[in-house]
Amino acid sequence: MNRKVTVVGGAGNVGATVARSIAEKGLADVVIIDIAAQKAAGVALDIYETCPIIGSDSRVIGGDSWEAAAGSDVVVITSGKPRKPGMSRDDLVKDNFAIMQSIAPNLVKYTPNAIVVPVANPLDAMCQALYKLTGFPRERVIGMAGVLDSARMSTFVAMELGVSVQNINSFVLGGHGDTMVPLPRLSTVSGIPLTELLSADRIQAIGERTANGGAEITKLVGTSAWYAPGQAAAEMVEAILKDKKKVLPCSVFLQGEYGIDGLFVGVPVKLGASGVEQIIQVKLTAEEDAALKKSAGAVKELVDVIGC
Ligand code: 2OP
Repeated sequence: MNRKVTVVGGAGNVGATVARSIAEKGLADVVIIDIAAQKAAGVALDIYETCPIIGSDSRVIGGDSWEAAAGSDVVVITSGKPRKPGMSRDDLVKDNFAIMQSIAPNLVKYTPNAIVVPVANPLDAMCQALYKLTGFPRERVIGMAGVLDSARMSTFVAMELGVSVQNINSFVLGGHGDTMVPLPRLSTVSGIPLTELLSADRIQAIGERTANGGAEITKLVGTSAWYAPGQAAAEMVEAILKDKKKVLPCSVFLQGEYGIDGLFVGVPVKLGASGVEQIIQVKLTAEEDAALKKSAGAVKELVDVIGC
């Protein structure tokens, strides 16, 4: 029997991208759940019909019934309002919290053993909501943000240096918001720290573009990004399903790590079959630590708004 991944909100752009990527890689059968049941069925069928072309044995179904999700190994939550131009991720907090409140009981009822990958914004606060509402262990609630933010930073470094994106390893910590913390000291091009290759001014510009990466796309397209966010979530799902032990920046519930307690914040973790298998602690400079704490403070403000 194939593994099973459910994508909630999967009729939307991000969810459909996650579903398609998982099916394309043949990682698992995919269940698309969406309140727009007919669209979910159509998107699922369209993706299923790509499988004979690409040679994938994934089966893809869609609808609004959670019963189909039963037994899922991973559930990706992409439901939520997207951003409009001029909106910050934080402007979505109350609306998307209400959506998480409607999803959590279904996770508990139908997929009690699944690893949950929240994608909805504001990401860290939505992770905290789902963690508290489901009561799932922290190892099984893992927010997608750092993979996306790091990919954006790598893209901008590649553009700047004219090198392959494959040579670049970028590290971004903190909340998935304006205060995220790109770490040039720990970002490398074929092992060479970025700080050896670019001036402080250029590094700062890349960091700022990374932090504004979501808004840049929203302004261009008129709604939130979906290709890179969807691909980033699929990367996490693959690391989990294949028990890769891949080290990726993800939003996880910290209990004292990095001096932060009781809050979801993006840090490097080892992802494998049990979800978060290790939180990797890196010694930060005083400046980096202050930036991370500031970012955690911004997450805390949102978490307080929703009372989680
Ligand atoms: C982004 O940064 C959707 O938050 C997502 O594009």
